[in-house]
Amino acid sequence: MDIIKSPEEMQRLALFLKRSGKTIGFVPTMGFLHEGHLSLMRAARGRCDLLVTSIFVNPTQFGPNEDLAAYPRDFERDEALCEGEGVDIVFYPEPASMYAADASVWVDEQALSGGLCGAARPGHFRGVCTVVAKLFNLVQPDLAVFGEKDAQQLRIIERMVRDLNFPVQIVRGPIVREPDGLAMSSRNKYLTSLQRQNALCLRQALDHAADLLEQGVSDVAVLRKGIATLIARVPEAEIDYIAFVDDASLAPVDAVEGSTLVALAVKFGSTRLIDNAVLVP
Ligand code: PAJ
Repeated sequence: MDIIKSPEEMQRLALFLKRSGKTIGFVPTMGFLHEGHLSLMRAARGRCDLLVTSIFVNPTQFGPNEDLAAYPRDFERDEALCEGEGVDIVFYPEPASMYAADASVWVDEQALSGGLCGAARPGHFRGVCTVVAKLFNLVQPDLAVFGEKDAQQLRIIERMVRDLNFPVQIVRGPIVREPDGLAMSSRNKYLTSLQRQNALCLRQALDHAADLLEQGVSDVAVLRKGIATLIARVPEAEIDYIAFVDDASLAPVDAVEGSTLVALAVKFGSTRLIDNAVLVP
């Protein structure tokens, strides 16, 4: 397994590999890897000649009051996990090598980015789109895998690839959960053991919505109230949003009539967790 830190070297090698007829699968990450990330690597590996993963805590997708400095990092552990998954190249750049001090070009998706996490984190998806576009240019992937855990991010990246004609196939990887249902996340590490227990309400809330739908409740006001009541009973859980949106356009819906994304963001202390499910009537 090669570890490449220089963006120029990464791009040179990727272009060489492509000219040699190799197909490249890519899993971009911010590191502190867990089973969710590894599942994406497994999904990519079988479909390509070479597997590249990037580990880069991208500063431009963090707001001024967010956890950029505190974001968990453990490169040695990540390296061993990548090795175990048969990763061929780990791209591990320094922030200063990825962004010129006077960088002034951004990729700004404008239809899907405004709501959900985009409302709570202004500029977040601009940072995500810009770094993913840069990573695609550096890694030259034929295929890239993104997790459904970040449902809005996944749809925005799919839109960017379509609208900017990136020659990359985007593959969706299902949400990987802990045995008790909590969606895996690098940020789970921040939770105290009590918060960790309380955080189970995310999955329970999604299941509750699915149960209500099965019982014939399709009115979003009623579904939202059911979820909000369940979460309100949990100590320390502060709802950031409960959203019911059209699965494709991410526009809010009043009733679950077509494929509907239900997405939650809830804070436990200072840790904000997200989870989602797709409801189909
Ligand atoms: P990060 O949060 O490290 O996630 C990297 C990838 O892993 C994303 O596609 C995310 O959706 C996926 N992932 C995270 N938890 C998962 C889980 N429990 N099950 C399945 N997939 C999961 O998302 C980012 O980094 C960044 O925004 C990035 C795309 C790398 C751009 O900086």
